[in-house]
Amino acid sequence: MDYSVDGAEEVEPERSSSPTETQSPVMDRNPSPPPNAGDGEEDGDLDAIGDTVYSKHWLFSTLTRLIHMVTEHSEVDSEGQMQLPDDDEEDLCRVWDMAMDKDVAGFLQEFKATDILLGVIAKSRCPRLTEICVGILGNIACFPDTCLTLSQNEDLGAVLLLLLGDTDPPTILETSRLLLTCVSQKDVCSLWLQRIRQQMSVRSNLLFVMCSSTNTDLLEKVGELVDKLFDLDEELMTSWITAQQNEEEKEGDGERHLEMASCLLEAAKQLRSESPNGLEVYLHTLQLLTTIDEGIQTFAAPDGPGKAVWEFVSDVVCEDLCQPTDLPVVLQEQKSILVQAFAVLQALYRCQEQWCDRSDISISLIGTVLRVLQYQSEGKDDATSRDATKDEQLQTLAEITAEFLADICIQIPQDTVADLVKEGHLTEKTALSAAGTLVPNFKTSINKSTFTKIEENTEKKNTSEKGRATIIFSLKNEVGGLVKALKLFQENHVNLVHIESRKSKRRNSEFEIFVDCDSDHEQLNEIIQLLSSHVNVVDMDPPDNSCIEEEDMSNVPWFPKKISDLDKCANRVLMYGSELDADHPGFKDNVYRKRRKYFADLAMAYKHGDPIPRIEFTEEEVKTWGVVYRELNKLYPTHACREYLKNLPLLSKYCEFREDNIPQLEDVSRFLKERTGFTIRPVAGYLSPRDFLAGLAFRVFHCTQYVRHSSDPLYTPEPDTCHELLGHVPLLAEPSFAQFSQEIGLASLGASDDSVQKLATCYFFTVEFGLCKQEGQLRAYGAGLLSSISELKHALSGKARIMPFDPKVTSKQECIITTFQDVYFVSDSFEEAKVKMREFAKTIKRPFTVRYNPYTQSVDVLKDTPSINSVVEELRHELDIVGDALSRLNKQLGV
Ligand SMILES: [Fe+2]
Repeated sequence: MDYSVDGAEEVEPERSSSPTETQSPVMDRNPSPPPNAGDGEEDGDLDAIGDTVYSKHWLFSTLTRLIHMVTEHSEVDSEGQMQLPDDDEEDLCRVWDMAMDKDVAGFLQEFKATDILLGVIAKSRCPRLTEICVGILGNIACFPDTCLTLSQNEDLGAVLLLLLGDTDPPTILETSRLLLTCVSQKDVCSLWLQRIRQQMSVRSNLLFVMCSSTNTDLLEKVGELVDKLFDLDEELMTSWITAQQNEEEKEGDGERHLEMASCLLEAAKQLRSESPNGLEVYLHTLQLLTTIDEGIQTFAAPDGPGKAVWEFVSDVVCEDLCQPTDLPVVLQEQKSILVQAFAVLQALYRCQEQWCDRSDISISLIGTVLRVLQYQSEGKDDATSRDATKDEQLQTLAEITAEFLADICIQIPQDTVADLVKEGHLTEKTALSAAGTLVPNFKTSINKSTFTKIEENTEKKNTSEKGRATIIFSLKNEVGGLVKALKLFQENHVNLVHIESRKSKRRNSEFEIFVDCDSDHEQLNEIIQLLSSHVNVVDMDPPDNSCIEEEDMSNVPWFPKKISDLDKCANRVLMYGSELDADHPGFKDNVYRKRRKYFADLAMAYKHGDPIPRIEFTEEEVKTWGVVYRELNKLYPTHACREYLKNLPLLSKYCEFREDNIPQLEDVSRFLKERTGFTIRPVAGYLSPRDFLAGLAFRVFHCTQYVRHSSDPLYTPEPDTCHELLGHVPLLAEPSFAQFSQEIGLASLGASDDSVQKLATCYFFTVEFGLCKQEGQLRAYGAGLLSSISELKHALSGKARIMPFDPKVTSKQECIITTFQDVYFVSDSFEEAKVKMREFAKTIKRPFTVRYNPYTQSVDVLKDTPSINSVVEELRHELDIVGDALSRLNKQLGV
């Protein structure tokens, strides 16, 4: 009888047949024609399940008998163990076999056999019966359609996971097989993974089997299941490896403390002589653990399982897999398990300093490494002459071993080398093969150091062709995938400059490899194509010389790149200092106009780096200032924000903010520089929003130096030094506010007119007219309010319209210069306003990003990879500093 089914849809390795298979001839197991089946051929056809010759009637009657049997037993004796009569067992085993057929599986599903079997499992007091029922379900699960329906049965899902804690090994074996079948099917895989993640008993039950069972079949199957789960779901692997501490706490009495890696090791030891395949599975699982930080931390812990795993795997490699007397052909036979073993050893070697001296590596292990490389190199020569087909697995083995040797050879002491020679491990042949395989490992660095100078000379002229490119790819599920991918770079003469693995942002269970390489466009395209057959290319950045096209930049409005560039735009005042409007209080006052001209000329002559000219203010000016100062100071305690009130006394102390003295901008500038890095630059009058905001990007605040007209000390139609000093300066001394102001400035550089207008409006409703909430009260932080008695009172009177600050809304609000604002915007804090502005700034269209460089007081335009790389370098350094500070703090705190 042909048992084969459509190979495209089935899950190949997980099919099981009942143990009767080995006991009876095929025809005996085949219940067709079943006992007591219909007489006629016609009836026989109607009775047949699908295209098979199996009988529906027989199957029904067997299942019905099964239900009766279990129900009767549970009614008579619900506690005692049930005996399964031989005949019934034989029939059920037939059903088990039949379920391997797709039509039968579909038929069973259609007639709710899943529910029947679930009911039987729930009531069964007979381990053999449970095993058979799970076995039948396991066969039904081999086909995608039936597996989907079966998997969607929540009750069945819960019962099956609990069965992993059963005391009957054959039942656990069948359950593991069934689960492995299910998680191997892509449609239901995530459903099962979710269930397993939520059911922590799965972990402890499987670990218990691994560390205590001697049943080879069971250990193999459980190993395959765990390996598959880890391969599919890194999150699960991480939670299982970190679960031990919680488990320990929960169990308290230490009744059963199961540590992941130790249990895997126990199972591997058990399978060592019995099942090479099983051993390979466990080695692969151990290797998977080494691919996550949590796994490495576990292995690296001084009392962790790393040492025991290292010793076991070394022993397996040296004693079982590749002994000195073995012929090269052995390598061919053992290559796949050697790949796993060396991958584990390599990972452990890199973290083993915690529990072992790296130079203690055994001579026989080094000898084995050398031998593997020699055999591989000899085998390769033979293979090349005979047949060009590459043996990828052997190739992977050679690469992993070569990498491992590259790691260990740095640490091998001279004495060990002498011993290696003495014991025949290091011979001319092994040394030559080893050197041959090591060269590619160091090739990148050799190229880099030797040819850098030549490249500098010859390729500088040619920078439009070659540059730094970045490729991000994820690995397909194959051993040695990374090695194969990296080999491609080497074969195509592309220098790898930097490589790191990182967790995928796209798929949690995946790692992505991030590679920086020196390449031109042609090479890059070629390598991307080649890579595609081994890995999934996720992203690619072309060589860095292909920065933002110049034509894109040509539409960008000019903006200052360094602080001294402000000299080029600080004088573009919209209203010249002495040319006052007709409705200006000083319009008809010639003396005042002359005085304004004086201030305007001073500002226009100012250059970056100059000290700000000290002004001898007239009595009249001081008097005007005095009125403003006195009246406003009455309101501040109840109207100004906390930060303002904190800084104002400091200004009195250090910059002579007094009723009878107008502070000098130079003194204020020095004070601010120390507090927040802001400096002041004198300006003749109103600047355009673009030029004013540009100053903020460099932490430069443009300040007027003249005083309003004395006829109306409490009103001015334009900013004057009273507004600057009493409105702006106290908050510019506040670091969080300074940062907020600068970020608006940076966002404006090179932005379109429309964007600058929006930013200026946001600036207007925050820095000039902003409100915040402190201790449940509205307070002012905007300079326009803090320098205007009437508007300050109005804004906080409860009558003004208040809205939450939201750049999208605020940027559309009309700014009013001559009277009170229609609406004021409130933020909880500068931090909150800053976060909102940052988000808003990201929506501004610019073909580049800028970053302020405080060392050079310039803005770095980030438009190509070298400029971004240099920022990354700085950030790394800063993170180092933070890391160092934290570790010192931890030491001090005794953490
Ligand atoms: Fe202002």
